[in-house]
Amino acid sequence: MLKGKKNFLETIVSMAVAGAIIGAAVGGWLNDRYGRKPALLLGDLLFFIGAVIMAAANGPPLLIVGRIFVGFGVGMASMTSPLYISEASPAKIRGALVSTNAFLITGGQFLSYLINLAFTQAPGTWRWMLGVAALPALVQFALMMFLPESPRWLYRKGRKEEAKAILEKIYSADQLESETQALHESVEAEIKETGTAGKVTYKELWRTKTVRRGLIAGIGLMIFQQCVGINTVMYYSPTIIQLAGIAGNQTALLLSLVTSGLNALGSIVSIFLIDRTGRRKLAAASLSGVVIALAILSGIFYHTTTHSPEITPTVTSHLIDYTCPDYSSAANANSWDCMKCLKASSPECGFCASATNKLWPGECVISNDTVKDICQGDHRLWYTRGCPSKTGWLALAGLALYIIFFSPGMGTVPWIVNSEIYPLRYRGICGGIAATVNWTSNLIVAQSFLSLTKAIGTSFTFLMFGVIAVIGVCFVLICVPETKGLPIEEIENMLQDRAIRLKFWKKSSANLEKNVQIT
Ligand SMILES: *[C@@H]1O[C@H](CO)[C@@H](O)[C@H](O)[C@H]1NC(C)=O
Repeated sequence: MLKGKKNFLETIVSMAVAGAIIGAAVGGWLNDRYGRKPALLLGDLLFFIGAVIMAAANGPPLLIVGRIFVGFGVGMASMTSPLYISEASPAKIRGALVSTNAFLITGGQFLSYLINLAFTQAPGTWRWMLGVAALPALVQFALMMFLPESPRWLYRKGRKEEAKAILEKIYSADQLESETQALHESVEAEIKETGTAGKVTYKELWRTKTVRRGLIAGIGLMIFQQCVGINTVMYYSPTIIQLAGIAGNQTALLLSLVTSGLNALGSIVSIFLIDRTGRRKLAAASLSGVVIALAILSGIFYHTTTHSPEITPTVTSHLIDYTCPDYSSAANANSWDCMKCLKASSPECGFCASATNKLWPGECVISNDTVKDICQGDHRLWYTRGCPSKTGWLALAGLALYIIFFSPGMGTVPWIVNSEIYPLRYRGICGGIAATVNWTSNLIVAQSFLSLTKAIGTSFTFLMFGVIAVIGVCFVLICVPETKGLPIEEIENMLQDRAIRLKFWKKSSANLEKNVQIT
């Protein structure tokens, strides 16, 4: 029963991600063809429809359909919002404004946990919990009506007067001149290249040098964002809490509040740093911190799996009837420890720690609410996901460190870079490709990590993520250009100049001339 429920929840979550993959792919095409504003409006609409379907659902099939619609909307918005914001921002604060978008997402997640906390006090309110999500989409749809289309998209579509009127509101008089000039040159270059503002083919994308280099940087960042295991680390946070010996009842929700709160704080840090420190340094520093955090987590998990408390035969009178069947029937029962106990299945078993010292031998018993209550009623700690450990608090520090480092850098930089690195004419389609890759990587990691931890253990799974993060640092230093403060049209020229960047420490204003040229 429990297993079925869990699988169903997983299906619902992965359906939303699958929807996002499609939403992002379609969104890219929509953005180039019909503009940023219609794409955002459509995203809101799909999200609204999805939320209403879920709130009104009479069973699992409709819930899933609703989730898919929500996913469409999220996928479309995930790539369009940064693009729209980026194209309508002055170069100097472009990163900060796109980071603000990321903060509103992470802050919203934090808020949703708070709302959940409020709603779970009143039972039977799940329809409201799902339904309230429709409200922000409706508000954004209404407010979006009053906002202009991206001036850059308008200009490219030949609606130059409209574009100039909007640009006048964004830029001061002296900036306006050079901005319009740069836009003009960018569109001219396109016409020279393709004859007219022609159709984009994928082959052409790859053959165009600037686009190819942009795509390598943009897609690479998206892959590393997902493949350093952010969602896996989040998934294991309840285990980590148990390792740390805080094995209470209410901790799961509280923990989500702390981790999502840290995540949101990190996005605020990003707003302040992104246009000062730059994208490259922030991403590289972020990944380096993630490597350290993963090394700590991997080490602690290794230590706890190899040094977990032993199992004593069940003697406690209260628990005597609930001995774990696998343990009772095991030939080598003397060698069992807590880790072995938690791996037992059909039925699953839990570890009831010694009352005197949680590191001393404890009992391996059937895991369900009855048994848990008996164990805790004896003032003993109850473990189902991780075993008691002396160094457990270090794992907690590793978890916090991971989020603190990940959020301000790898949480935001990939989306920022993807909103500014492509030439105007390919910005929608390339942003769409990158976002699709992001959501696909998300799905792949989510679908495979449980089998991975079964095969090689949690410790080595974290180690693997750590190795990927190290590769990520090298990738950022070599393939990602610094786009901080550059007018968005000049980025194209920079990509034209070189493919590989090795001088990490040069001031970005000098980047154009002083980087090592290896092409
Ligand atoms: C827990 O398992 C025991 C033994 O199988 C059973 O007697 C008890 O009813 C179960 N409790 C719950 C809440 O499922």
